[in-house]
Amino acid sequence: MELRSSWMVALTLTAVMVTAVTADRSNNKSGGLYWSTAEEEAQAQLQPRVDDSAVDADFDADGGFSSLDSMLQWALGHSDPDQLKEAAKEVQGLNPSDLNKRRLEIKQLMEELKTPSDAQLMKVAILDLKNSSLSLEDRHRAMEELLELVEPIDNANDLNKLGGLAVVIGELDQSDSETRKMAAWIIGKASQNNPLVQKQVLELGALSKLMKMVKSSFVEEAIKAIYAVSALLRNNIAGQEMFYEESGEKLLQDIVSDSSIGNRLRIRAVVLLGDLAEFQLGNTDKDERPFFSNRIFLKSVVDLTSAADLHLQEKALIAIKSLLRLKTTEALVFKDFCGLDAALERMRQQLQDLMVEEYHRDYAMDVESLRSEVQLIFQRKLEKVTRMTA
Ligand SMILES: *[C@@H]1O[C@H](CO)[C@@H](O)[C@H](O)[C@H]1NC(C)=O
Ligand SMILES: *[C@@H]1O[C@H](CO)[C@@H](O)[C@H](O)[C@H]1NC(C)=O
Repeated sequence: MELRSSWMVALTLTAVMVTAVTADRSNNKSGGLYWSTAEEEAQAQLQPRVDDSAVDADFDADGGFSSLDSMLQWALGHSDPDQLKEAAKEVQGLNPSDLNKRRLEIKQLMEELKTPSDAQLMKVAILDLKNSSLSLEDRHRAMEELLELVEPIDNANDLNKLGGLAVVIGELDQSDSETRKMAAWIIGKASQNNPLVQKQVLELGALSKLMKMVKSSFVEEAIKAIYAVSALLRNNIAGQEMFYEESGEKLLQDIVSDSSIGNRLRIRAVVLLGDLAEFQLGNTDKDERPFFSNRIFLKSVVDLTSAADLHLQEKALIAIKSLLRLKTTEALVFKDFCGLDAALERMRQQLQDLMVEEYHRDYAMDVESLRSEVQLIFQRKLEKVTRMTA
């Protein structure tokens, strides 16, 4: 905890100075930290960084943040807002020579202390999580920090070395659903496209916990859990085998076929299904799971194409495209049992109508091109069967 307290003073000051110039810096593409003129600074308003960690960042591709940003985030997150305001007023009230002096002092301070490394920041957050007397609010904040910190792949790789992965996985058992949600989110983010972390998480036994959480009645928890499960299975055979052992197929089927479940969760489930089918297509040496050719299951996927949500329809189409290309799925099952013909025709008409509306046109055209691709694959698959029986 010593690290935190010694940093507080310097970082609060730095945060004040830097937020005071953020407004000017925001349009400056040269990047990095610069010190504005005294006049600019005096005019600058305090602009606290907006906390965007709550934004649904499942699919974000933002490549992490600089050390300065992480430091600022940390300093602002740990500063009392009233104190910050007071200090900012003080900075604004200084005359140019006092400001210069203050600036030099802070520069010196920063040089002496150096920017704390992400690893140090992670250590602090992990220590916090290990502290059982920490308030729930502080616990959530430590997790929000970790969520940002694990985004760069090097940091994600450090998480386990620092003992953080086991701690975060332990948080999946907390009674507070928000805590469990954050833990799943961190695990998902750290595992994304990262075979090393995927392996570590699987070895620590988190997959079955996360799969149970997918059934949570707390929607946000279920969403982050399926996000983490998907991240663990992507291109990962060991993860997929564990998933199937834990009745993952039934889990997917239950979500896909239950229209009372919210669309956000169903979209993610059908995306995961599409990923698994696609993975199967790329690994022809592996026997195809019988699940993929189960007609009741296939019908529930085809039925999604008449869902009210166009995104859900689109993701269902993507999954159907992969499922059609599997060897063990049968064209006639898609035709006679699932009614894929009629479903594709219904979609075609719906998309034609949407294309008339300016607002929807581009998206509708994209989905239509996907739809016609699926139709073509379907027809070819049907022709193969009819040729054989002719
Ligand atoms: C942008 O920042 C550089 C220093 O990094 C500074 O020299 C330049 O004047 C700034 N430009 C504007 C428009 O503020
Ligand atoms: C644990 O958290 C409490 C409450 O925030 C704090 O007073 C205490 O110093 C912390 N303990 C350690 C070991 O960090």
